[in-house]
Amino acid sequence: MVKITINKLSDVNLDKIADFIFVTRQSSAFHSDSKTLVSVRRSLRETAQDDHNIAILAASDDEIVGTLQLYTGFPGMAFIDNWHPIVGDIANRNTTAQSLIKACKQHVKEIGLERLEVNLSPILDVHHDARDEYKLWYENSGFYRATKEAFMRVDLKSFSLSSQVPLLPEGLRFEEIDNVKNKEFERPFLESFRHGKDRLFLDFTPAQQMIAFNYWLDRNRPFHRASILVMKDEKVVGFSIARPKSESVDLGPVGVIPEYWRMGVMKAVLYETINRLREDNERFATLEADVDNTPAINLYKMYGFEQVYAQEYYAWRVK
Ligand SMILES: CC(C)(COP(=O)(O)OP(=O)(O)OC[C@H]1O[C@@H](n2cnc3c(N)ncnc32)[C@H](O)[C@@H]1OP(=O)(O)O)[C@@H](O)C(=O)NCCC(=O)NCCS
Repeated sequence: MVKITINKLSDVNLDKIADFIFVTRQSSAFHSDSKTLVSVRRSLRETAQDDHNIAILAASDDEIVGTLQLYTGFPGMAFIDNWHPIVGDIANRNTTAQSLIKACKQHVKEIGLERLEVNLSPILDVHHDARDEYKLWYENSGFYRATKEAFMRVDLKSFSLSSQVPLLPEGLRFEEIDNVKNKEFERPFLESFRHGKDRLFLDFTPAQQMIAFNYWLDRNRPFHRASILVMKDEKVVGFSIARPKSESVDLGPVGVIPEYWRMGVMKAVLYETINRLREDNERFATLEADVDNTPAINLYKMYGFEQVYAQEYYAWRVK
């Protein structure tokens, strides 16, 4: 008999869960030589320091047979860890996975959140069977696929910019992000994304779109100086945000208001963005784009970005 419990991550026996995760992953498509038992234990201990992390456990005769980790520290939405639940090679594997997801949905509803998401990432060739299994678990549990994205990267050391610098259309100019307040940014941001092809953003309610804006434009996290705005007089018409990460600089959101689309605005912005990243000796720039967002994908390919892996988001809306 499998018993499901919902716990704060900090309240459970972390080493026991880490051991279970390590052993289960070792014999799966997620096996990785760089992940040792010590590193899994360390990372779980770090995660447990934030009380918004929840561990939903499946146990049989006191032995852990499955786990699902959930992050609840974001306004209105909760996020299941990538490629969770993790379930052992047991007879009732599918039922156990779906029981963990069901308990998770129940918890999210009880604490008053409105949306639950899981990201199957990365999806490399070796993960295709796993992807089919998770798709089944989530679709059988009432989730739908919100989007499929490409995680893209350019190696700035080997990519060379053309000597012909693309210019902004007449009357537009670059501006630094520190000189413009988020309030002046909100409308152009919403206008460009609400008319665009980013399915994950379009899947959000208007309130969730604002939450995403506030997160992406959070001034408490550092911007890279390669973040650029485009102005027509005092009005924002385009933007490209860059954030430093440990081994790369992450781009996004990027956008242009629809009345300026297809005039070469973002081509000029990204040239300048890449130029600044190279000046700063950054090695990689990364981003995520909806695979069906052809304008964005074409634009990124122009600047040497290539897909490293795919990722799929599944979502459930609390009724
Ligand atoms: C994607 C976006 C930023 C492009 O901005 P833009 O200023 O219109 O792009 P540009 O005019 O500079 O075009 C540069 C290149 O992008 C590609 N591109 C732009 N729009 C395109 C379209 N409608 N169809 C196909 N390719 C397109 C082309 O390769 C183009 O080069 P070309 O004109 O020489 O063919 C804009 O469409 C937008 O704001 N979309 C909504 C927000 C969004 O989806 N952001 C990306 C999220 S990952």
